[in-house]
Amino acid sequence: MLTGIYPGTFDPITRGHTDVIARSIRLVDRIIVAVALNPGKEPLFDLADRVELAKIATQDLAGVEVEPFEGLLVEYVKNRGAQAIIRGLRAVSDFEHEFQMALLNRKLDSNLETLFLMASEEYSYLTSSMVKEVASLGGPLHDFLHPEVAQRLTARLHAFRP
Ligand code: PNS
Repeated sequence: MLTGIYPGTFDPITRGHTDVIARSIRLVDRIIVAVALNPGKEPLFDLADRVELAKIATQDLAGVEVEPFEGLLVEYVKNRGAQAIIRGLRAVSDFEHEFQMALLNRKLDSNLETLFLMASEEYSYLTSSMVKEVASLGGPLHDFLHPEVAQRLTARLHAFRP
C-alpha cells in the first residue's frame, strides 16, 4: 500500500490544492492531506476548521483522508508509514522554498522523498492568501474555492468585520 502525505496549512483549502490531490491519488493508493497546526503563519481558521474544510473539499475523491498534524513533518510521515511527501509547484517562484524544504526533510530522514506535481495552469496563480484578500473585498470566490469553503470564509471574515 503506497501512501503519500500532502502537507500544508490549508487556510483554507483551495481548488489549486484539490487539483494537486486529484492528480496525486493517481500515483499512490492513499493520500493523507495533513493539515499543519503552523502557528507561525497565524492562520485565519483554527486547525479543526481547516481539517473540516479540507474534508468537505475532498469528499468526492476516493482514497483521500484528512488529518491534523503538529510537530516535525518527517516524524509524522514516518508514523503514518508513508513513502513520500507530495507538494504542488505553481510557478518558478515556489521552487526555491520548496527545494529547501525537500532537502531539509531529506536531511532529517534520508529515506524520505518529496514528489512535486505541477498544479493545473488554471490555478497557477492561486494562493490561500490571495483568495482571502479577494473574499475580504467582496469578490467572487467560485473559481477558487469549493462553495461550502467559500461560504465559511465569507462568514468568518464577517465575524471579524461585522
Ligand atoms: O501550506 P504551506 O504553509 O506551504 O505548508 C508548509 C508546511 C506545513 C508543509 C511546513 O511548514 C511544514 O512541514 N511544517 C511542519 C514543521 C516541519 O517539519 N518543519 C520542517 C520542514 S520545513
